[in-house]
Amino acid sequence: MTVNIAVAGKGGTGKTSFCALLIRYLIEKKKTPVLAVDADANANLNEALGLKIENETVSELIAKTKEIRGIPEGMSQEVYIEYKLNAALSEGKNVDLLVMGGPEGPGCFCFPNNILRKYLDKLTKGYPYIVMDNEAGLEHISRRTTQDVDYLFVISDNSARSVRSAGRVNALLKQINTKVKNVYLILTKATPEDVESLKEEIEKTGLKLAGIIPNDPGITEYDVKSRPLFELPGDSSAVKAVNEILDSLNI
Ligand SMILES: Nc1ncnc2c1ncn2[C@@H]1O[C@H](COP(=O)(O)OP(=O)(O)O)[C@@H](O)[C@H]1O
Ligand SMILES: [Mg+2]
Repeated sequence: MTVNIAVAGKGGTGKTSFCALLIRYLIEKKKTPVLAVDADANANLNEALGLKIENETVSELIAKTKEIRGIPEGMSQEVYIEYKLNAALSEGKNVDLLVMGGPEGPGCFCFPNNILRKYLDKLTKGYPYIVMDNEAGLEHISRRTTQDVDYLFVISDNSARSVRSAGRVNALLKQINTKVKNVYLILTKATPEDVESLKEEIEKTGLKLAGIIPNDPGITEYDVKSRPLFELPGDSSAVKAVNEILDSLNI
């Protein structure tokens, strides 16, 4: 059984950083290999994980299958998609990465949606854990109607605006077909005092607060130096906070 974990929220709140630390946690617990899916059009999960993307994004491969000339002669569209999907995977030591790419424009997913879904499902079955870095719009989650999401973490920073945006993500969940079993709010770059001041806003989101991640200078430093967050030491405050949250949820 694959555990599907998705992360969503407003841009700049710390989603990608959280995904990297979540994957770090899963690897430490030997829950590997992890499949990381970057479903943010502005993809950068690879940097946080220290992986180079040399392969095509899923969106680019879809664009190619739309042109007849893009498919080798004698190969069916289905076989081609499966082959390309495997080739689109960037393989790391304990984590593989699939980058979805922009959903708009020539890479629109609508045409071969069913074929893509079928092979994405097949591919994902080989992994005990999938971590999906999403945009606030839940575009990709809503397309994955054949697979439930076990945990959705809605990320907000310590601003009221961002918490309200998390509330909108929660509201959006009611409009999509995908079953999301557990939804939690996580506040990043926040202190317990922030939680106190934001109490009313947090309640209004209808989300359960799973925990807070403090403002960690280590994250800033690693970002400045383009070092993968993945390699943050175990005693960094953000790493400890993420580990505690995940331990408490029994993930
Ligand atoms: N816990 C944290 N402490 C300090 N800085 C953080 C923390 N989490 C994220 N950041 C910083 O906030 C910015 C946005 O983070 P990122 O994870 O890229 O957000 P998103 O994926 O939601 O756009 C980055 O500059 C990152 O270094
Ligand atoms: Mg991001």
